[in-house]
Amino acid sequence: MNTVIVGAQWGDEGKGKIIDILAQDADYIIRYQGGSNAGHTVVVDGKEYIFHLIPSGILHRNKICVIGNGVVVDPQVLLGEINDLKSKGVYINNKQLRISQNCHVIFPYHRILDKLRESKRTFKIGTTGRGIGPCYADKIARCGIRMIDLLNPSVFKIKLKDNLKEKNEIFKKVYAYGGFSFEKIYRDYLKMTDRLSKYICDTVVLINEAARLKKSLLFEGAQGTFLDIDFGTYPYVTSSSATAGGACIGSGLPPLKIDKVIGVVKAYTTRVGEGPFPTEFSKSFGDFIRNQGREFGATTGRPRRCGWFDSVLARQAVLVNGISELAITKLDVLDTLKTIKVCTGYKYRGKIFRSFPYDADVLTKNKPVYEEFSGWLKTTSHIRSYKQLPVNTKKYLSRLQDLLRAKITMVSVGSRREETIFA
Ligand code: IMP
Repeated sequence: MNTVIVGAQWGDEGKGKIIDILAQDADYIIRYQGGSNAGHTVVVDGKEYIFHLIPSGILHRNKICVIGNGVVVDPQVLLGEINDLKSKGVYINNKQLRISQNCHVIFPYHRILDKLRESKRTFKIGTTGRGIGPCYADKIARCGIRMIDLLNPSVFKIKLKDNLKEKNEIFKKVYAYGGFSFEKIYRDYLKMTDRLSKYICDTVVLINEAARLKKSLLFEGAQGTFLDIDFGTYPYVTSSSATAGGACIGSGLPPLKIDKVIGVVKAYTTRVGEGPFPTEFSKSFGDFIRNQGREFGATTGRPRRCGWFDSVLARQAVLVNGISELAITKLDVLDTLKTIKVCTGYKYRGKIFRSFPYDADVLTKNKPVYEEFSGWLKTTSHIRSYKQLPVNTKKYLSRLQDLLRAKITMVSVGSRREETIFA
């Protein structure tokens, strides 16, 4: 069975935990897009692990974790992550971690450009500053440098020289920024490549061979549907294909080999960075839920904006990704609320939008139409079966299922592995 896990909101839906659970039954866990802008937090035996690039499945022994070609790799972050895991007793060998030779590489000039561009924008995106956008821009502009280029010093030399020739001019003239030394980057990156080369291979052959042998592949999406470059709230998006289609592009597994797409949604909504957010809470209620749900970014520590569950948004995610099953996370965060709301439409100039509008004006100026539910006012984190959930919780979940037209198969009521209900 080959399954794709996608975020159905703006990222941070709690995919890390769901992937960690599903990874138990998978042979391969594959990242297919994004880079070190992502942050997955997994708690096992009281220890917290934060992943940026390495698939969180690495915590299971005997699994093969793959960083697919669609991912942009910052070697410094990757080596840091390998070291960090080592310090927590997780040793990674080159059978467990495979990196696509076609991954594009993040360089210091990408990170700096990310921040400089952001500082000049009138309407800021609120990027993570990890160089993601500029690296993908180079990939599309056909001047990017891939892992396989790093393995060949003479190719790397030409490509880096070409890049710096153009980029140093731009840095100087447009941003009044000093520029970058070829020697330093060349030397640093060759050193890092030495340590990473054993993990780099042709992952397309690896993955397709695994599929032929009927191994189980789990594709781990980073970010979420509304941060997708095509289907997100553009331009307040990331620069990759975070939706299910990205799993094929970013790994080389053909579309007909994907069997199932599971969407992960939080029981409410959050977003980090700028951009429209129709169901966003007022400041004081937002602060309350943020503290209840510990809603701070795993990568940047930034406070996440919080709001009610938006079924207009999540339904669009079901359509775009072909989601048939849903994992609902952080349900327990709503335990103490007397009333819970779900947005079912956006009212704008007298018209109610039931499907997701991409017009910036509609998205920012609409008045959400809500359905109200009585809260359950009971602790749910100790509950382990769907039947035992309070009646009002089941009503809430059942309505979400109807609105989204997808079946809820997992409900998460806490950050630990065991705090999960299989429906
Ligand atoms: P970038 O990916 O760093 O270019 O940031 C673009 C937008 O995506 C910003 O609003 C970020 O806050 C958001 N973003 C990027 N990665 C994540 C993530 O893993 N979770 C949530 N938001 C993210």
